[in-house]
Amino acid sequence: MCGIVGYVGDKAVDTLLIVSLERLEYRGYDSAGIATLNGGKLGIRKQVGKIQVLKEILKEEPLEGQLGIAHTRWATHGEPSTENAHPLTDCKSEVAVVHNGIIENYTEIKKELLREGHIFRTQTDTEVIAHLIEKHLNKNLLVAVQKAVKRLEGSYALAVISIKDPDRIVVARYRSPLVIGVGRNENFVASDASAILNLTSNMIFMEDGQIGFITRRRIKILDREGKPQEKKVKIVKWHLLGGPQRDGYRHFMLKEIHEQPVVIRNVLQRRVSQDAKRIYFEHTNITKEKLLNIGRVIIQACGTSWNAGLVGKYLFEKYLRLPTEVDLSSEFRYRMPVVRGDTLVMAISQSGETADTLAGIRLAKSMFLDVLSLCNTIESTIARESDGVIYVFAGPEIGVASTKAYTAELLALFLLTIYSGRLKGTLSEEEAMRMLEELKKIPYYMEEMLDNQKEVLECAEKYYQSSNFLFLGRKFNYATALEGALKLKEISYIHAEGYAAGEMKHGPLALVDERMPVVCIAPKDSVYQKMISNIQEVKARRGKVIAIATRGDEEITKLVDHTIFIPPIREEFSPILTVIPLQLFAYHVAMKRGCHVDQPRNLAKSVTVE
Ligand code: AGP
Repeated sequence: MCGIVGYVGDKAVDTLLIVSLERLEYRGYDSAGIATLNGGKLGIRKQVGKIQVLKEILKEEPLEGQLGIAHTRWATHGEPSTENAHPLTDCKSEVAVVHNGIIENYTEIKKELLREGHIFRTQTDTEVIAHLIEKHLNKNLLVAVQKAVKRLEGSYALAVISIKDPDRIVVARYRSPLVIGVGRNENFVASDASAILNLTSNMIFMEDGQIGFITRRRIKILDREGKPQEKKVKIVKWHLLGGPQRDGYRHFMLKEIHEQPVVIRNVLQRRVSQDAKRIYFEHTNITKEKLLNIGRVIIQACGTSWNAGLVGKYLFEKYLRLPTEVDLSSEFRYRMPVVRGDTLVMAISQSGETADTLAGIRLAKSMFLDVLSLCNTIESTIARESDGVIYVFAGPEIGVASTKAYTAELLALFLLTIYSGRLKGTLSEEEAMRMLEELKKIPYYMEEMLDNQKEVLECAEKYYQSSNFLFLGRKFNYATALEGALKLKEISYIHAEGYAAGEMKHGPLALVDERMPVVCIAPKDSVYQKMISNIQEVKARRGKVIAIATRGDEEITKLVDHTIFIPPIREEFSPILTVIPLQLFAYHVAMKRGCHVDQPRNLAKSVTVE
């Protein structure tokens, strides 16, 4: 994880870097640092804690200069501390390095460098890079970095400066994203485009193995062998709703929960014709013939995006009659999956940078399979490396807990199902139109639910001190149970398990007693009666039940302790609504427990390391 930025130009370098770094804080926030070069002098400020702490330090002790690099850290090697914060330097403090990624062979390199007399000051893997560069540095920083990276195994996005070659920032990328922003008499580098989109829309996305440099007026990119590469400048425009302002909300997560009706409405307007007869996807790059010939689908993703994928599996099997697997990317990439030529691999990712998901895509491509991704971040690595992409258009999601990206991913899966169902003839035109008309009601339903949070607040008040939670759901809402549990544990640090309700009696029921709150997702659907039986089983063991039920369901209210209603909706689409009270519940519980909602401990928004 970690976020890096660099700037060379006339603007106030420390202010510019801090503002850009704040846009990357979602990538890690345990410590932050900045280094600038000013008249041949290297200035460094770094500090454990959030970027705000670094900002305060810079107010007291500003850093001037013609160029600089900065970093926000998510610790992998070495605890979060000021000492381990980047930028890291060599023995003589002539070189400063910021790094995103993991150097897997750092122990071996460190031993060697120690033998040569280098002095190490941190526990990080990154420090070996600074010393390797020092070892090879005469006057040309590019050459020194070229030599250093040849020794590295693992992943890296690097930005390096040195007093010995003071006019440029040398950059290198391998398996961690890096983008160069092209300006006029100034240039930028960042882990992702969103950090510098307010400064330029002209971006060069570096490829794996590339190395190069930026100066005020020049950009040079070379391949691994040192051959100059064409600079492919892409115009990135991302004027979507949201952005890094909280707009009066206390937290980004709350803002993003409330943005969901707008996101869904906008996507429907963009993708569905007014007469509900056509669905548009711009970048699938997969011909209708190919889509028709798909015999099997493997969806691979992580975390919340995996949960969305689980809904996708149920949709594709029901409506397209397509055998569909949903696999965790971290398993998929190592399990030697058996595939056929007609297998379509789908990746789902909000950030478009998740290391395991990206590795899954690369594995699929190495097996000559088509890859279609559902992605939120425009021009992210996953979007660029897939054969086709369906952007979910949730807009920038800043809160670490994914909310609007999840429901946008679900919507994309609904639309893809209807689109493919029409194409394959497994869905009639009338049925498809009915489904699309129903989708159009979702934003109104969501607004209704967001306007009335009384029951959710009551439940949060009552149970925020509980140490354990169970979440149960079936069929399309099995994923909701997993997602509800994930939201609660990541932001409130309460142990929560999501289960397929039918599995209860195969073990988890033993956990239930009068102290165990059990959230049961039980809308009126084809498995409703089964859920009612599961609720009875919990009640018989004196568990406390919070039911997510369909408005008007009086029967359930008599059985359970609390009921949170959702508007009536077709069962396949219900996960897009049932998750809303669970997002809010997790948020309110976390608030009551005094947790840091947008930046929960130990997590980062974008998981760019294995
Ligand atoms: C969601 O709330 C989590 N923070 C996390 O599980 C996330 O969904 C996962 O890391 C996958 O991220 P991606 O969608 O950006 O690939």
